[in-house]
Amino acid sequence: MSFAALRSSLRKSVNVRAVQRVGRNNANTFRRYTTETPAPAPKKSNVGLYAGLGAAVVGGIAFYIYSSDSDAAKTAGTALKSGAQSAKVAANYVPTKADYIKVYNKIAEVLDSAGDVDYDDGSYGPVLLRLAWHSSGTYDKETNTGGSNYATMRFEPESLHGANAGLKVARDLMEKVHEEFPWISYGDLWTLAGVAAVQEMGGPKIPWRPGRIDGFAAQATPDGRLPDASQGSDHLRNIFYRMGFNDQEIVALSGAHALGRCHRDRSGFDGPWTFSPITVTNDYFTLLWNEKWVWRKWDGPKQLEDKKTHSLMMLPTDYVLVEDKSFKKWVKAYAEDQDLWFKDFSNAVSRLFELGIPTSQFVSSEPWVLPTIDEQSEEKKQ
Ligand code: HEM
Repeated sequence: MSFAALRSSLRKSVNVRAVQRVGRNNANTFRRYTTETPAPAPKKSNVGLYAGLGAAVVGGIAFYIYSSDSDAAKTAGTALKSGAQSAKVAANYVPTKADYIKVYNKIAEVLDSAGDVDYDDGSYGPVLLRLAWHSSGTYDKETNTGGSNYATMRFEPESLHGANAGLKVARDLMEKVHEEFPWISYGDLWTLAGVAAVQEMGGPKIPWRPGRIDGFAAQATPDGRLPDASQGSDHLRNIFYRMGFNDQEIVALSGAHALGRCHRDRSGFDGPWTFSPITVTNDYFTLLWNEKWVWRKWDGPKQLEDKKTHSLMMLPTDYVLVEDKSFKKWVKAYAEDQDLWFKDFSNAVSRLFELGIPTSQFVSSEPWVLPTIDEQSEEKKQ
């Protein structure tokens, strides 16, 4: 069996379990989405719409400007594109749920394409989730600035902020998807990629809805809004309370480190947190809780390694979760109960991706629960 086939069958078996769990988790919380008013009838074509709005020219110019690399050009392109988006809103244009599922499916294809080029552990899922989180995690509730609404990480200097090192990989992948679906905003695209990453890697459903619009370089956030992994619990609280999260949610969100790895050439840290970095499990918590962690002796930034195998890592900000009394009880709870973590993670991520977006911008009153690729093929068979 080829590696890709093995990966796919592994993913499938994980997904079966995950879907069962998710079914249970979501039965009460999200049932209402399944009975939501049907999505509007599919649009005939974007061309007709743009022509009707007199926006085709705008789209053409925007496309031309987008081909340029400079920030000024991107900003100008964004202005035009936002104009087209506002025009769509003004004309009551709402892309259908089916349109977004097509984008989701394309992203799922991109996730697995990492296997073809031997990228990391065989999935682009982790780096795409990190992109979605870094675009959302700049939110400041006091000033109501930042968040995924304007996708300002497209612009310098935000794209060059130390915390965002390595995310060009993810932005470039999404640029290709955007070429195929130019009507979607970058904020919607990046957060949808985060949703697809979690769901396709066997995690819980992440309720999500579109509505973000592209903004300008001027709306970019200052450096320092994302967490610094070398710090302690005060810093974690400062950063996440600023977004409106509490201690339990800080721990739940940190469980995303079940996925992916640190790269020396990005953050300077090195290695994965778990033995299964492309499958969503509560292993981050079981390992954090059960293993003995010691400071790694090396020439890199301060990080911990597991005493037994020396092959896993924890960041200082991961380790404070078992040192701080208020965080610790949640690490224990999530280590003992994956379903509980799935539920809390799903709620926190869904909220994270919506920080700072005016409710009036959303195209539906409630977030959607999008079907995984496996669920869609099961549905087709029936
Ligand atoms: C709690 C504070 C957090 C800190 C200090 C932190 C820090 C980091 C660092 C240093 C890396 C390594 C980047 C690299 O070298 O490639 C990383 C990776 C990652 N982070 Fe976090 N993070 C935090 C919270 C989160 C949250 C809330 C999420 C998502 C909900 C998340 C998702 C990820 C993922 C998926 C990766 C792996 C990326 C890859 O494999 O390319 N992190 N994080």
